[in-house]
Amino acid sequence: MTPKKTTPIREGKSKILYSTDSPEHVIQFFKDDATAFNALKKGTIKNKGFINNKVSSALFQYLENHGVKTHFVHYLSEREMLCKKLEIIPVEVVVRNRAAGSICKRLAIQKGQTFEPALIEFFYKSDALGDPLIAESHIYHFKWATPKELEVMITQSIRVNDLLKSVFSEIGLELIDFKLEFGREANSNVLLADEFTADGCRLWDKKTGEPMDKDRFRQDLGGVDEAYLEVSKRLQNYFEASL
Ligand SMILES: Nc1ncnc2c1ncn2[C@@H]1O[C@H](COP(=O)(O)OP(=O)(O)OP(=O)(O)O)[C@@H](O)[C@H]1O
Ligand SMILES: [Mg+2]
Repeated sequence: MTPKKTTPIREGKSKILYSTDSPEHVIQFFKDDATAFNALKKGTIKNKGFINNKVSSALFQYLENHGVKTHFVHYLSEREMLCKKLEIIPVEVVVRNRAAGSICKRLAIQKGQTFEPALIEFFYKSDALGDPLIAESHIYHFKWATPKELEVMITQSIRVNDLLKSVFSEIGLELIDFKLEFGREANSNVLLADEFTADGCRLWDKKTGEPMDKDRFRQDLGGVDEAYLEVSKRLQNYFEASL
């Protein structure tokens, strides 16, 4: 039986997390709200919740089929996804194939520079502190994750990069960078959590070089709604064709 939604646990910037009548499950409800620069810029993107739920469900299912363990259980409704309830590890893993965004400013690196192999960075999940960059030693010192857990997070992040770089390339998009979150199950297994959407990654159109992700919203480039819809349409066609 599908667990039923009960009470909201927390409302974040782009989703509402609900508890269910099953202690092992939560429901992620995807909103249309969009924020950037640690919520200093706010807006909405048309149908984003619906699109992000579809995109994230399809990609998490794909990752599961290719050996990446995730919290994804199944797509529930237009804006709702059923997930395994996890204790979120407060460390965001960022994987970069090319320089864009904060790293360019922080290290005076030219936008577009290629990282081969991909560069991996860690950020402390804290809105109050603006998600600061951290070193591996902080993660162990403050017991945010054990070395074994971090090893799983890194290995899985590299695997996600390899798998999704190919998927996006097949639909004419280059995966520039992305952010992942992980969490622990009660039995302490570490699973990929949260979402994979155009909110948390950069995708450049291979033909035009145009961003097809939240940078359109961040930088007021216009065509935000259209870019989100285009990415989801291309993905849907790709997954339908490969069935
Ligand atoms: N399987 C899960 N179990 C428990 N919590 C989860 C799970 N998957 C995601 N979450 C958490 O649910 C919340 C989703 O909401 P949203 O993404 O809107 O948050 P946010 O505003 O980005 O804030 P945060 O800084 O906490 O990420 C996040 O805090 C995320 O870490
Ligand atoms: Mg979030």
